Amino acid sequence: MERENRKEDGKILKKILEFLKEYGHTVWELSQKLSINEDSVNFYLNKLTNSKKYLAGGFINSWRTHGGSFVYVYVSPTKKRDPLPEKAFISLPTAGNEGEKGLYQRVIILDDVLGPNNEPAKCIEITPFYDIHIGHRKCDMDLFRADVEQVRKRPNRFAIFGGDSIEIALGDSAGGAAWAGQSIPPDEQRIVFENEIRDISGKTLVMIPGNHEHRTTKKTLMCPLREVAKSLEIPYFAGPVILDITWRGFRWTFHISHGRSGSNTPGGKLNAVGKPRNYVVADFFIMGHVHDKKSHRVSRLVPRREFREGKLVSFSIMPKVERKIICPSYLMYEGTYAQQAGYTPGSRESILIQLNADGSSTVATGSRTLEGDVTGINI
Ligand SMILES: [Fe+2]
Repeated sequence: MERENRKEDGKILKKILEFLKEYGHTVWELSQKLSINEDSVNFYLNKLTNSKKYLAGGFINSWRTHGGSFVYVYVSPTKKRDPLPEKAFISLPTAGNEGEKGLYQRVIILDDVLGPNNEPAKCIEITPFYDIHIGHRKCDMDLFRADVEQVRKRPNRFAIFGGDSIEIALGDSAGGAAWAGQSIPPDEQRIVFENEIRDISGKTLVMIPGNHEHRTTKKTLMCPLREVAKSLEIPYFAGPVILDITWRGFRWTFHISHGRSGSNTPGGKLNAVGKPRNYVVADFFIMGHVHDKKSHRVSRLVPRREFREGKLVSFSIMPKVERKIICPSYLMYEGTYAQQAGYTPGSRESILIQLNADGSSTVATGSRTLEGDVTGINI
């Protein structure tokens, strides 16, 4: 019999807790909801207040109404935020043009970084994440998560985020009622994205927005990605950025933009990624936006001058190799506006940039292996 009662008590305590978690209740309100008298409510409230098991770290707080009766509410335990993962690189301040309104970011990766099998790394790997479109119902989250996991797992693999990370389809966005087809509403897309990349925030060298995030900025001057970057302490830039990576005494320069082009031809897309070559000298020119995978080596002739004690001692003209890279997206094809408009299906493969310990570099473009490598053509 006593056992029965205890069971019944447990049920009532749970019920009261549910009510008090929702909002504050008076004893009379609880008695009405539970169909028990006020003395019994007071009995159970007293039990609940002293029960570590039911309170689970929280507590019952109460205050007087103007009429003198008490309102009771459950207060959850304060959650401590997990600390961010440690930074696996150092961001160097630059001369006045750094920061979100600037265009230059310089990072140092420590010489003793390890490789995938905990041996000294033979190269630094960069995964460029472009056009993830989180929130679009055809976003391939499994593929995205698999790539994030490789960055997390491999000590020598780092990430950059090149825009259109979240979908942000608004009422007046291109695509008509595209907003209605989102699987996650825009306000939650930012939170989902932040949670998905939190584990690799310490290995994300830079983040920029794309035209999809710009939809918000154009209307409100607020960029959701800026909030993500701020929260995760990731270097954020409002537009294209020049990124210098130094490792083991070598330096590689990247021009990173989201990109823009309406072209449907390989030549047109490669012309678009090469446009900044008119005004920037870099080792890599990277963009996305066109949801395709392309890469191309080009060279330019650059002057090389050597000085000793301020005097010019040699002058020569040297070829310098530059790589134009277009990154694929994480958006599937069937059932999207691209299919409806009759665009060529985009690539489902990947791009991995390798900065080698001898100062050279490789770009692997092809399919992913289960071990996280990218096989295919190296350029
Ligand atoms: Fe885009």
